Amino acid sequence: MPRTTISIIKADVGSFPGHSRTHPKLLETAAQMLKAERGKLLVDSFVTHCGDDLELVMTHREGVDSEAIHKLAWNVFLACTKVAKELRLYGAGQDMLADAFCGNVRGMGPGVAEMEFEERGSDPVLIFAADKTEPGAWNFYLYKIFADPFNTAGLVIDPSLTAGFVFEVHDLVGKRKISFSCPEESYSLLAYIGAPSRYVIKHVFKKDGTIAASTSTQRLNMMAGRYVGKDDPVMIVRAQSGLPAVGEVLEPFTIPVLVAGWMRGSHHGPFMPVGLCDANCTRFDGPPRVVCFGFQVTDGKLIGPADMFDDPGFDRVRARCNELADTIRAQGPFEPHRLSLSEMEYTTLPAVEKALEKRWEPLEK
Ligand code: F6R
Ligand code: MG
Ligand code: MG
Repeated sequence: MPRTTISIIKADVGSFPGHSRTHPKLLETAAQMLKAERGKLLVDSFVTHCGDDLELVMTHREGVDSEAIHKLAWNVFLACTKVAKELRLYGAGQDMLADAFCGNVRGMGPGVAEMEFEERGSDPVLIFAADKTEPGAWNFYLYKIFADPFNTAGLVIDPSLTAGFVFEVHDLVGKRKISFSCPEESYSLLAYIGAPSRYVIKHVFKKDGTIAASTSTQRLNMMAGRYVGKDDPVMIVRAQSGLPAVGEVLEPFTIPVLVAGWMRGSHHGPFMPVGLCDANCTRFDGPPRVVCFGFQVTDGKLIGPADMFDDPGFDRVRARCNELADTIRAQGPFEPHRLSLSEMEYTTLPAVEKALEKRWEPLEK
C-alpha cells in the first residue's frame, strides 16, 4: 500500500474586518487551486479557516517537506494575497515574509504540520487549527491525550496503549530537540513543556515509531525579527486502534486553559473550542479559539469533514471560557493578563519603551 502524507500549510494573508475572519473569496481561490491539482500532485484537499488564518489541508504521495507541495501552498497564498490586496483586506500578505519561494515554506512565514504514514485498515484523523495563540498552546492537550490516564482511559485499560508514547520536543529558542518516553519520563517532559513559549511538542510517536501527532512550530515574530501577530498553529492527530480514541483526543478541550496570544499577541486568554460557524475572532480580537475537523483517510482521500466542536458537549467549556475572559480582561494592562516582559519583547511594547528611554534617571545611591 503506498504511504499517505497529510500536509497542513497555513498563513494569514488578509482578513476582514481587521484581524477577525478570512474572506470567502480567499477560501474560494485556495479551494479551486488545490482542486485543480487533485489526481495530479494531490490526492485530495480541504480548505478552511480559523479566524484570520487560511488553512490548506492536502493529502499526497510526496512525503513530508516536499518542495512541490510547499511550492503549491506558497503559490496559493500568493494568489490569495493578490485577491486580498484587490479587496484591500486587512493585513493583505501579512505572513508572506520572504520575497520569493526558496524550496520550503519553513522560515518563510506560513506554518506547517505534516505526517507520512501507512494507512491502517481504517484511519481516523483529526485536524486542529487555532487563531490568536502560539504553537505551544498544543502542549497541554497533547500531554493530556497521550500521557494522562485521567484523560485517556485506553492508557490504563487497552493493552495496545499501555506501553505509552514518545514525545519529540523542540526548543524554539535554543534551536535543538529532545525526545521523552512516557510514562517513564513524564515529569521530565513536563519540566519543559510547561513553558510553552519556548518548548513545543513537535511530534508524538507510538513506541514502535508509528506517528500519532504532528504540530506546526513556526514562530512568526522570531522569523521576522519584528511583531507580525501570533503564529496561530495547526495540529494533526491520528486516532483509534492502538491510539487514543477520537473522544479521548477531544476530551481535554473541555478544560478552559489560558494561552498566550489574543489582542496584539500580547495577552493571556482562554482557548475556546468552537464549530466552524464560530471560528471568527471578535471580543478583544478573540478570545483565542480552536476548530477541529474529523476525517477518515482512505487511500489518501479525505472522507469528511465532521465539525467536531459543533456540539453541545462543548457548550459548558465555552461558557467557562467566557467567564475566564471576563475575569482576566478586568485586569486590563496588568500582568498576568498581559504577557511577561520577556514575551513582550516580540510585541510592539519595546518601541514604546524606546521612546521613553531617555527620561529615566538613575536612582540615588
Ligand atoms: C493578534 C492580532 C491582532 C492585532 C491587533 C492590532 O494576533 O493580529 O490582535 O495585533 O488588531 O493590529 P494592527 O496593529 O494591525 O492595527
Ligand atoms: Mg491577521
Ligand atoms: Mg491569526
